[in-house]
Amino acid sequence: MSKSYTIAVAGATGAVGTKIVELLEGANLPITKVKALASKRSVGKTIPFKNTEIIVEELTADAFSGVDIAIFSAGGSLSEKFAPEAVKHGAVVIDNTSHFRMDENVPLVVPEVNPESLREHQGIIANPNCSTIQMMVALEPIRQAFGLEKIIVSTYQAVSGSGARGIAELENQVKEYIDGTPLKELTAEILPAGGDKKHYPIAFNALPQIDVFGEDGYTLEEWKMMNETKKIMSDDSIKVAATCVRIPVVSGHSESIYIEVEKETSVKELQELLAQAPGVVLQDDPSQQLYPQAINSIDDKATFVGRIRRDLDNPKGFHLWVVSDNLLKGAAWNSIQIAEKMHELELL
Ligand code: A2P
Repeated sequence: MSKSYTIAVAGATGAVGTKIVELLEGANLPITKVKALASKRSVGKTIPFKNTEIIVEELTADAFSGVDIAIFSAGGSLSEKFAPEAVKHGAVVIDNTSHFRMDENVPLVVPEVNPESLREHQGIIANPNCSTIQMMVALEPIRQAFGLEKIIVSTYQAVSGSGARGIAELENQVKEYIDGTPLKELTAEILPAGGDKKHYPIAFNALPQIDVFGEDGYTLEEWKMMNETKKIMSDDSIKVAATCVRIPVVSGHSESIYIEVEKETSVKELQELLAQAPGVVLQDDPSQQLYPQAINSIDDKATFVGRIRRDLDNPKGFHLWVVSDNLLKGAAWNSIQIAEKMHELELL
């Protein structure tokens, strides 16, 4: 346990990477050095860390020389190219992109749910999709206690999930609108999906498309939520359906989740269970108008749960409202927790 680590953050200047460097300051890990890696454009920029400034270096294979832990958040194609290079240099990779998530040799980990699967790693560990992570934190305690047959989720996702450029696009559109541009003429170049043909305004809008469409009519984001859930919960029999929607919120993903449990339970029992659950903060008191809100989740590591109701037609059906900061528990914080857990389990 006396090791101390050199940690590289690939994509350190991005929306998630910036949070990773910030969180490393307080991480429960012995750290010798943090390396900040980004594109050529950012080389020489500085990022504050503890009482010093880290100078950004270019993301190259050689940058991983001497690195013990490499946390990637620079995009799937860069993870595809450089994560294996980092492993070759002896690093353990924690990857925030979707590239390796469904690879059977790559554990997909939410530390509150399946930390033991870290033991099976072969150099790369995947951080799940942001919307999936918060749903797992809220639902795993219910699954453990009462069994889980079915999940139907609709998301209300923040633009920061599409990176720093997504945030800038929303902010610019709001400015354009205030300056008199009609809503349908706002400049849209990124959302709903950088890789798709058409772009629509996100300001004052709701876009039922996150990432590109598959042939079955589901988007890739929806596919991720459905398939990652089964992998993380190690249960292919859970029925999952997702509808993912981007809304004009900067940070904090919200989810309306309907579940069907196997054993009889009550709203009170679910509230008591979730009030004690790791990583969960219960905010559920309609008499006080207390429920989770995206703006209150910002910069908080918790997953907030409220609006728990029994379905009026199905006694084993329940509705929940689940909110978390997509940049923290949905990305950066989950990655840091993975690193901390690996240190604790002596897997590094
Ligand atoms: P840079 O700031 O130099 O462009 P976000 O998710 O917020 O869009 O951030 C993406 C991150 O990935 C940024 O740190 C960005 O660095 C980095 N990145 C993007 N393209 C490359 C590239 N070709 N090589 C290395 N890093 C990249």
